[in-house]
Amino acid sequence: MKTTGNTILITGGSSGIGLGFAEEFLRLGNKIIVCARWEDRLNKVKAEHPEMIIRKCDVSVEKEREELFNWIKANHPETNVLINNAGVQLGTDISQPLDMKRVNAEIGTNIVAPLHLSSLFIPLLKTKSESAIINITSGLAFAPLAFMGIYCATKAAMHSLTMSLRHKLKSTSIKVFEIAPPAVDTNLGHDRRDDKTQSHGGISVAEFLKEAMAGITGDVYETCVGQAKGLRMKREEVFNTMNK
Ligand SMILES: NC(=O)c1ccc[n+]([C@@H]2O[C@H](COP(=O)([O-])OP(=O)(O)OC[C@H]3O[C@@H](n4cnc5c(N)ncnc54)[C@H](OP(=O)(O)O)[C@@H]3O)[C@@H](O)[C@H]2O)c1
Repeated sequence: MKTTGNTILITGGSSGIGLGFAEEFLRLGNKIIVCARWEDRLNKVKAEHPEMIIRKCDVSVEKEREELFNWIKANHPETNVLINNAGVQLGTDISQPLDMKRVNAEIGTNIVAPLHLSSLFIPLLKTKSESAIINITSGLAFAPLAFMGIYCATKAAMHSLTMSLRHKLKSTSIKVFEIAPPAVDTNLGHDRRDDKTQSHGGISVAEFLKEAMAGITGDVYETCVGQAKGLRMKREEVFNTMNK
């Protein structure tokens, strides 16, 4: 897709991978709108990048998704790219009684939100000569880590839904991309860690962006970055290694 002159909404654009995309697309000459739940982090983004537009929104809440879309339609109707990036990773032992609040939060944020937001935006995106939906999934969509089984299942579902959406929209102006990151050093998983300074490691956001942006620029509709490539190709084989 073209990487300049777009207006791009990035969900979860206040940290990590979403913020990385926001900064890169801003540098390339795009108008950037980021949304997230916590205002303090959004305000920090605005202080560092006054050109970016910020919007508080919890995408796991249906009413807030509708309000976000209506606000975009009224104030930034030229929006032609939606990046479904917001995600949470909660460790959940699926062999134990489940805390359904946590289960619903993870499924609501990682599957229902991108599915619903896409459906809200599709009529608007269809009116543009060039437009795109970019879904951020995970290498774990292809081989799950059992201790975070629900997270991995949400990403597997998003891989499947992205394929279906791409097929359904193939005769429209909307290109549907999937980017599957490997472990990237961000705040992801802080919800399940006692020590909030601890990260799960992985490659830097800058390194991740090089491959992800190459895929987007080159119209490669599915880009598995770094080690996510191995998970895609050898899913059963790596499952046993990963879950030792
Ligand atoms: N980092 C990795 O290793 C990795 C690997 C594979 C895939 N991914 C995927 O990459 C995406 C970005 O994650 P990240 O690693 O950049 O994590 P991150 O640093 O924790 O960023 C997550 C972003 O999503 C926002 N967010 C979370 N829940 C939200 C909600 N309900 N509504 C609106 N915004 C919400 C967060 O802001 P607030 O908390 O303020 O809402 C934050 O801006 C996720 O979909 C994740 O699953 C990451």
